[in-house]
Amino acid sequence: MSVRPATEPRTLAPPERRVAEIAANEPVGAYSLLTAVDATGPPDPAPGQFYMLSTVERWGGEDGRPYLPRAFSFARARPAPGGGAELDFLLEEIGPGTRRLGELRVGEGLRLVGPLGQGFRQASGRRLLVGGGIGAAPLLCLSDVLGADTRVLLGFRSAAHAEAAGLFAGEPALATDDGSAGRAGLVTDLLGEQLEEESSAAVFACGPPAMLEAVRALCANLGVPAQLALESGMACGFGACMGCVVQTREGYVRVCVDGPVIDADRLAPQVA
Ligand SMILES: Cc1cc2nc3c(=O)[nH]c(=O)nc-3n(C[C@H](O)[C@H](O)[C@H](O)COP(=O)(O)OP(=O)(O)OC[C@H]3O[C@@H](n4cnc5c(N)ncnc54)[C@H](O)[C@@H]3O)c2cc1C
Ligand code: FES
Repeated sequence: MSVRPATEPRTLAPPERRVAEIAANEPVGAYSLLTAVDATGPPDPAPGQFYMLSTVERWGGEDGRPYLPRAFSFARARPAPGGGAELDFLLEEIGPGTRRLGELRVGEGLRLVGPLGQGFRQASGRRLLVGGGIGAAPLLCLSDVLGADTRVLLGFRSAAHAEAAGLFAGEPALATDDGSAGRAGLVTDLLGEQLEEESSAAVFACGPPAMLEAVRALCANLGVPAQLALESGMACGFGACMGCVVQTREGYVRVCVDGPVIDADRLAPQVA
């Protein structure tokens, strides 16, 4: 396996794990919005970057073996009044790590390392943001930064998941698998229609692998530039374990340091 040399400046291995304090944990439909004060961390992570999270207390199974930290995109970041950043994370409880993070209460400790990775890059002209499920999380801070001339298209499983669309400013276009909110269908249906109207747009997408492959194929056919925020199983988050590699046209890259945001034209078609 060959790892292609970095095409962009690398995130340096972080010198420390910090402990942030939980300031809020609120349900947003089927998801939870966790807010933590990272008092000594940088106030301005870039949209698309991520943090490796774990809890100070009870991070591990019944047998006491610790879990690895888990990767999470920050959804929003604000300078904290006393310094550092107030960070929002949108969580979907799917396993032991997200369940434990979802239990956190105000005042408890959140261990974090970050911000890590390469986020979204600037693009001129009309921007289309495309999110599937929990992939909406990094698009929240991106849409805040891009502001006007940005259209947000979101797809969710059901109306309960689609409540996360309410966190966005403006009115995102919405599709759900079961038709319980917005249009019945896939977010890529919305994207296809939008690109028929404005094929000069730039696309920024985050979501499950099948959705990202559909976005990649659609954009490749129309010659539309796209940046995709990939997910991959991550053990370290900063380049040490090789657990997160994905294949590109030029060889394998580590999603945690060369991504998670990667230009779609670097990726070969994915076989399901
Ligand atoms: C860069 C990055 C950003 C992320 N941002 C967020 C976020 O903002 N919010 C959020 O809720 N999650 C996010 N994730 C996903 C989250 O890190 C994983 O789902 C994590 O493994 C959940 O931990 P767990 O212990 O709850 O579940 P696990 O025990 O790790 O997994 C539970 C189930 O999900 C499957 N699974 C785990 N990870 C993946 C994956 N990457 N792709 C497909 N199936 C998987 C497992 O096989 C298992 O069946 C992000 C991941 C990455 C790499
Ligand atoms: S998560 Fe360890 S190298 Fe990427």
